[in-house]
Amino acid sequence: MNSSDELMFYVEPMRQPDVPTVAAIERRVFTMPWSSNAYGYELRANPLSHYFVARARSIERRTDAQGIDPSIVGYGGFWMMHDEAHICTLAVHPDWRRRGVGELLLSTMIDTAASLNASVVTLEVRVSNVAAQKLYAKYGFETVGLRKGYYSDNQEDALIMTTGPINTAEYRSRFNRLRRMLRQRLAVRQPETSPHG
Ligand SMILES: CC(C)(COP(=O)(O)OP(=O)(O)OC[C@H]1O[C@@H](n2cnc3c(N)ncnc32)[C@H](O)[C@@H]1OP(=O)(O)O)[C@@H](O)C(=O)NCCC(=O)NCCS
Repeated sequence: MNSSDELMFYVEPMRQPDVPTVAAIERRVFTMPWSSNAYGYELRANPLSHYFVARARSIERRTDAQGIDPSIVGYGGFWMMHDEAHICTLAVHPDWRRRGVGELLLSTMIDTAASLNASVVTLEVRVSNVAAQKLYAKYGFETVGLRKGYYSDNQEDALIMTTGPINTAEYRSRFNRLRRMLRQRLAVRQPETSPHG
């Protein structure tokens, strides 16, 4: 890939001004949403937390009267606990799905976890959430257990999923291949400059 290629989406650490937008997407996506206060606390006071937002390069960064920034199209976060990174949230705005944003966020979290010396990445996911499970399987997550009735809104079970060791050459090579394919998919091609004369 040409180094001058930009990606259609980019990921940045979540900051306090992003919280109203994140909470608005959260309310749209989840039946038991975390509040703005919960996200505010995570960013301000939880030393274990690492949160990110994904932004669309085509949308101008701005904040409306409600504090909503339409350039934010998804977010995710994990807690770093000893050598385990536990993904606690991941969501893409419904209007922006199936364009690689979820994958960009997940792979950024795995990469960040690896740079913090995590040896595995874990998470819980609803048994009915096949879309998310497919995304996780793509990045090597496997089901290792079940939490019965974990979700209190409908008593749905959670699958416990985990990667194998992420610091092995084998995992890195798989991961790097997926990231290359993702970058190609998300690349905004720069116009070729034609030679003069
Ligand atoms: C799960 C979620 C984050 C995926 O985000 P997304 O940006 O739409 O996903 P991507 O476009 O990056 O897709 C990446 C991979 O995920 C899987 N996937 C995503 N959506 C899928 C769907 N509807 N059906 C099947 N597989 C799907 C595929 O493996 C896909 O890879 P592919 O493009 O090579 O087929 C998004 O659907 C979402 O926000 N869901 C609601 C919140 C949620 O369930 N969060 C996870 C909680 S554990």
